[in-house]
Amino acid sequence: MKDSAPQAVFLSDYTPPAYLVDRVSLVFRLDPAATRVLSRIEFRPNPAAAPGQPLRLDGEKLRLIRAAVAGTALEDGVCAHSETGLTIPADRLPDGPFLWEAEVEIDPAGNTALEGLYMSNGMYCTQCEAEGFRKITYYPDRPDVMAPFDVRIESDQPVLLSNGNRGAAGDGFAEWSDPWPKPAYLFALVAGDLRAVKDRFTTKSGREVELGIYVRPGDEGKCDYALDALKRSMKWDEDVYGREYDLAIFNIVAVDDFNMGAMENKGLNIFNSKYVLASPDTATDGDYENVEGIIAHEYFHNWTGNRITCRDWFQLCLKEGLTVFRDQQFSSDMRSAPVKRIGDVLALRARQFREDNGPLAHPVRPSSYIEINNFYTATVYEKGAEVIGMLKRLVGDAGYARALDLYFRRHDGDAATIEDWLKVFEDATDRDLTQFGRWYTQAGTPRLHVTEDFKDGCYTLHIKQETPPTPGQPAKAPQVIPIAVGLLNPNGDEVVPTTVLEMTEAEQSFTFENLAARPVPSILRDFSAPVILERTTSTEERAFLLAHDTDPFNKWEAGRALAKDVLARMVTDNAAPGPAYLDALERVARDDGLDPAFRALALRLPSEDDMAQTLFDAGVTPDPLAIHAAREKLMLAMAEHLSAILPDLYEAMNIPGPYAPDARAAGCRALRQTALGLLSRLDHGKAAAKQYRDADNMTEQLGALGALLTIGAGQEEVGRFYRQWEHDRLVIDKWFALQTSHAAPHRAAETAQALTRHKDFDWKNPNRFRSVIGALAMNAAGFHDPSGASYELVADWLIRLDPVNPQTTARMTTMFETWRRYDADRQDLMRDALRRIARTPELSRDTTEMVGRILG
Ligand code: PHE
Ligand code: ZN
Repeated sequence: MKDSAPQAVFLSDYTPPAYLVDRVSLVFRLDPAATRVLSRIEFRPNPAAAPGQPLRLDGEKLRLIRAAVAGTALEDGVCAHSETGLTIPADRLPDGPFLWEAEVEIDPAGNTALEGLYMSNGMYCTQCEAEGFRKITYYPDRPDVMAPFDVRIESDQPVLLSNGNRGAAGDGFAEWSDPWPKPAYLFALVAGDLRAVKDRFTTKSGREVELGIYVRPGDEGKCDYALDALKRSMKWDEDVYGREYDLAIFNIVAVDDFNMGAMENKGLNIFNSKYVLASPDTATDGDYENVEGIIAHEYFHNWTGNRITCRDWFQLCLKEGLTVFRDQQFSSDMRSAPVKRIGDVLALRARQFREDNGPLAHPVRPSSYIEINNFYTATVYEKGAEVIGMLKRLVGDAGYARALDLYFRRHDGDAATIEDWLKVFEDATDRDLTQFGRWYTQAGTPRLHVTEDFKDGCYTLHIKQETPPTPGQPAKAPQVIPIAVGLLNPNGDEVVPTTVLEMTEAEQSFTFENLAARPVPSILRDFSAPVILERTTSTEERAFLLAHDTDPFNKWEAGRALAKDVLARMVTDNAAPGPAYLDALERVARDDGLDPAFRALALRLPSEDDMAQTLFDAGVTPDPLAIHAAREKLMLAMAEHLSAILPDLYEAMNIPGPYAPDARAAGCRALRQTALGLLSRLDHGKAAAKQYRDADNMTEQLGALGALLTIGAGQEEVGRFYRQWEHDRLVIDKWFALQTSHAAPHRAAETAQALTRHKDFDWKNPNRFRSVIGALAMNAAGFHDPSGASYELVADWLIRLDPVNPQTTARMTTMFETWRRYDADRQDLMRDALRRIARTPELSRDTTEMVGRILG
């Protein structure tokens, strides 16, 4: 046990920093186990804070060699030391500005938590967000302390990088200087034997920027797509937001050991290699899409995150919600907007709705936390982006553009808050956003209950909003909900085009007049708000909307609702899938006028986890095995119903020529894969085995392997795949994940366990750990096997990983966040697994917080 229980931090306790920093200069003498960090920090009392305060510096796992204030060494015993930092009493500080100097020693090689300065495959790299800089040197490690940094790196590694522009360099050293004041969490340093792929970009005002992507020798050939995505991002941010890049150099480094996706350090983004490296034979269409989106995301942070940063970590959504919103806009401009929107909503429901409807629910802007690393969540990121989408819909495109211009003008260089953000919209559009602000402070997914009546040509929608209680928030006030609605005539024509209804009350009615016939409503078009729509709808009406809705999102949504109805009835009443759904699917599959990517999405069934939540919401205790069986049965029924068209569809989607990662080609491959998945259930994997042999790209190779494993075949291909790709970590991650996620439910735990004994199971590498243990979550029936074997396996491994890498461990406890949905036996087993984790001696504060919240 720790000496004290972890302390919560509260938003309401915010106070400005006692001292500001005018300049930081750092010298790194790199050594794997004994790196020396020399710091010179120019402090000045903050005029906005109470005078005469002590100097409080954060520091963790640092060996202090020496320290001095204003040139005078601090003798032993002057500073109050603790495990989290030191405090210099006010009477040791000069009245005005002063210089702090320190030398510390740190151990990058022993840093397995991958936070601070650590080593990955012999290269040095850093990760400082949120509070990693304090593991590098003593510093006021909070985002509202911003300063320019000068860095000197001394090492015999061939490549030495840090933030900003290049300074002097020579044998065994390099200097970097970042003129833009930044918080410490944006600091970065990289040193290693790396190869650069270089390019240039000219900004709209004619400034030349040198671009570099740094990778391990041998990976140089996998950087083209990332580089291209970077240039397109730079151009897009100029065109759409008027934002130009602001340094002479922009570097990206790929590292294999990384807890998250990527990091927006000023001028030196550091990426999990899986989101940089891509070549047709090793990366799938999904990988290409991720690379494009994440390169854009990190680049866009340069303005939304770096130039304007967060006052404190409660404001995390200020940078993350906005930057996700911007990367989503970018991807929909690069690809198909409707397909992008559907994909984003699928992800939102799978991750954020799941979170919002369980024990980990928290507001987009939380009001307290124990470990901030636990708040890099789908709610902060994805719901944070949805909130901005709603704002934009409410104020209109022109209002949004004015507000953003004002935001950049007013807050450049600031560490800002959500209040600042909303004020900008109020000032630019003359709207009162007090009530809208509840989207940031109230947790939970609102439910909209809709009923309607039609009389004398008047059609009225009666809408009630209700948000269920969430931890710490028993009662909710009504929120502002933009509800985009269109009305269709019974003949399929649109009689009322998309109109945004602005709901503000708990209950409200909206009337449309002068209608000749009772219309069919298309509600929540383009998913205009992150809410759950509850309205009794007939199968006929859904089929009608799937056929006629002009809004592509709702067209897809109608098909999805049909699928959920069918699956739910198969699970609860053992009903056979009716012809209405299958006929509707066939029309979609045959409709060559529809984008193949859209057709692929429409033919994809809801996930097993999605069905579990749907049944739970309907008052049914979900049985994961029954859901799995019903879904398999429905796929077979689809395959049989579509048997006449599947071979042709499969062939028609085979586009000739070399692999290209663009959206159009990827959409064809997605539809071809859907056809293959169904076809395999009829031809015992013949087409899939052939595709496996012929594939010249990873999308088709992995797709074929997945189709084979799904029908219980493919063991020989599994062996061949390994031998072909043994040398490529990222591909072998896929190999591990596919076997776990496609194992038969009763064999999932043993499959995963066997993989943990494989010689390539390097469990300290987060990607690899997730590809075996995390992939069990993709196998819902296998994870929830009634024996509890998977729960036990996951708990064993989380207990083992926790002392090595608390951040990744804590994040993966979310595999258990839905435990309350299930039957008493499963609940007991999951609770036991969670309690066993909780009882582990010396459990990290990260994991302690998560398990505690999940158990409730
Ligand atoms: N700020 C990063 C992003 O969203 C995510 C991140 C958080 C990375 C914490 C590492 C550590 O772009
Ligand atoms: Zn981000």
